[in-house]
Amino acid sequence: MIILGIESTCDETSAAVVEDGRKILSNVVASSSAMHKKYGGIVPEVAAREQIKVIIPTIDEALQVSGNKYQDLDAIAIAYGPGLIGSLLIGVETARALALAWNKPLIGVNHLVGHIYANWLAPIGISNLPKFPLIALVVSGGHTDLILMKGHGKFKWLGGTRDDSAGEAFDKVARVLGLGYPGGPEIERIARNIKYQMDKFSFENPNIKFPRPMINSKDFDFSFSGLKTAVVDKLSLRSSSLDKLGTTGLRVKSLEFRVKREEIAHEFQEAVTDVLLKKTFAAAKEFGAKSVVVGGGVAANSVLRQRMEDGGSKNNIEVFFPQGRLAVDNGAMIAAAAFYERNFVDPLALRADPGLHF
Ligand code: KG4
Ligand code: ZN
Repeated sequence: MIILGIESTCDETSAAVVEDGRKILSNVVASSSAMHKKYGGIVPEVAAREQIKVIIPTIDEALQVSGNKYQDLDAIAIAYGPGLIGSLLIGVETARALALAWNKPLIGVNHLVGHIYANWLAPIGISNLPKFPLIALVVSGGHTDLILMKGHGKFKWLGGTRDDSAGEAFDKVARVLGLGYPGGPEIERIARNIKYQMDKFSFENPNIKFPRPMINSKDFDFSFSGLKTAVVDKLSLRSSSLDKLGTTGLRVKSLEFRVKREEIAHEFQEAVTDVLLKKTFAAAKEFGAKSVVVGGGVAANSVLRQRMEDGGSKNNIEVFFPQGRLAVDNGAMIAAAAFYERNFVDPLALRADPGLHF
C-alpha cells in the first residue's frame, strides 16, 4: 500500500511517500525554523505563510523522488491536529482538495500518533518492531505524554504535562541562556562541553542542582515550568529583567558566564531526563510493557536516548527511538501511522483540529 503522508502542523511542511507503513520512498521536509530564530520561538503567522508557499512544491518533489505518479498512490494521509491552526489549515485543505481531485481515499492522522509510528519506519538493516503492550513516551515541542498501547490504534493516555512540555522547557531555558531556537539541540551542544570537562577532571557541579519535578508522584504526570524558574534563579536574574532581554536573548559574553551556562545546560538536561526515565519505566512496569517507544523532537536528544537504552537493558525492556531525522516532524511518520491505523475520513467532512488529543 503506497501512501502519501502530509505534515504541516507547526513550522515544518513535509510530504513523504511510504510503502506498507515502513519503507520510505521519499521524505521531503521544508522548514521555516530559521525564520523564527530571531524571535526566539515560532511566529504562527509566519509559519502559515511559509506553508502556503512550499506545500505544493514539497508534495511534487516527494512524488518525484519516490519515482511514483499520483496515479500510483493508494491513499493520502494528513496530520489534522494538534498544532497551530494556520499551519494545520494549509495541510488539511490541500489534502482534502487532492483527495477529491485525484479520487484517492483520505486518512486522518493525529500528529502525536505519527510521532509514535516514526518507530515503525524501517531504516536499512533494521527489521525489529516494537511489541505490544508498549509504553509510548511522546516528547515534542507542544506535548509530553505517556501512552499505553495494547495494539495498533489502541491508545490509553496515562498522563502528561500539567504545564510546559519537555521541548518547551528546552526552548525556554535555551532562550534565557542566550542560545538559539530551537533550544533542544543548542542545550545538548553546550552541555556536551561541560560533560567532557567533568568526565576528564572528575568534578561534579555541586553549586548547580535543579529539582526533579514530580519525580516521586504516583501518577504519570509531569511539570517542567518550574525548571525554567530554577535556571533563572541560578543565573541571578530577576524575572522582571527577563522582559528586557528582548528577542535576541542574553548577550553576556564573559568566560565566567559561558562556563556557568554550560553547567546549567548540563544539569537541566539531566533533570529532565531523570524525570522522563523514572516515569516511563514506572509505567512500563505497572502495565507489563514489552517495549518502550519514544517519539517527538526531544527524542533526538542523544543523552535521553543513551539513558533510556541503558534503562531498557536494566529493566529488560526493548527501547525504540526513531532513526536519524525521523524524531522531528516529517511526513513519513504520518504515512506510517495511516497505514497501521487506517482511519479513513470523508474529504468533504474533515476539519483541522488544533486541540486534538489521544
Ligand atoms: O516534534 P517536534 O519536531 O515538533 C512538535 O511537534 O512540537 O519537536 C520540536 C521540539 C522543540 O522544542 C525542540 O527544542 C526539541 O523538539 N528538540 C530537542 C532536540 N531536538 C529538537 N530537544 C532536546 N534535544 C534535542 N536534540
Ligand atoms: Zn511534532
